[in-house]
Amino acid sequence: MTTRIALITGANKGIGYETARRLAELGMTVLIGARDEQRGREAEASLRELGADARFVPLDVTDAASIARAAEWIDAEFGRLDVLVNNAGTATVSRQRALASETSLDDMRAVYEVNVFGLVAVTNAMLPLLRRAEAARIVNVSSEVGSIGSQSDPESPLYAMPASAQYPSSKAAVNMLTAMYARELRDTPIKVNAANPGFTDTDFNDHRGIRSVQDGAEPSVHLATLPADGPSGILWGHLWRSDREGGYGVLPW
Ligand SMILES: NC(=O)c1ccc[n+]([C@@H]2O[C@H](COP(=O)([O-])OP(=O)(O)OC[C@H]3O[C@@H](n4cnc5c(N)ncnc54)[C@H](OP(=O)(O)O)[C@@H]3O)[C@@H](O)[C@H]2O)c1
Repeated sequence: MTTRIALITGANKGIGYETARRLAELGMTVLIGARDEQRGREAEASLRELGADARFVPLDVTDAASIARAAEWIDAEFGRLDVLVNNAGTATVSRQRALASETSLDDMRAVYEVNVFGLVAVTNAMLPLLRRAEAARIVNVSSEVGSIGSQSDPESPLYAMPASAQYPSSKAAVNMLTAMYARELRDTPIKVNAANPGFTDTDFNDHRGIRSVQDGAEPSVHLATLPADGPSGILWGHLWRSDREGGYGVLPW
């Protein structure tokens, strides 16, 4: 079987790095998308030390020229892409816990640039390459906080938690985009799904997350390796429950 080629955005650390490590362990060539050259090269080197076929790809998901260069390089090097994991994400804004009524549009734009517009720009640039693969998989890393059902359900543990508007709404947009791409590609072998890592111990939340990165990367790995009869257009991952145990499976949008 030919080696599958997987691009993971924001793969220099956290859940993205672990996803790359796991996909490499499964025999894939992993393209380490990172916006910072030094951080990208360090991740590449550390994965190679573990035996991975890892290649650093400069990729800032908010920079159209960087995305175009990455797609051109992948085309020249491999001619196709088997897996795209849209993992790069941010919640870092100046007023993280502002109420919806206090949301600053600058904060909102900053988060949407990465989480939403970046995802669309990268996906559209990579689609011609993904269409050339035998059966490509697209994984959009979302979050349970993007579940409109949970955020509006008084019984949900998320309902009582302080939250900004920009990050949850950006992940709700990721969920809808997942449904729209899955619909558009339904007559192709390409599957498009959203992954919920769960509250994971990374820099993203100053390591307050309750899950290991191994746990957090599991939904992305699962969706990146779905068989031909697997689903398309679902949100999959760790279920948040008030007992912090949760479960694992399909989540409500
Ligand atoms: N941790 C959690 O509890 C949790 C829960 C649900 C969902 N998620 C989602 O999981 C994904 C990964 O998060 P994480 O916890 O692993 O966070 P993390 O450790 O902070 O990693 C985020 C990654 O995204 C990259 N990134 C940010 N902006 C970028 C840009 N413009 N272009 C390219 N890369 C960019 C970062 O690169 P730099 O190192 O250069 O900043 C980093 O590699 C995100 O989509 C996040 O929303 C996380």
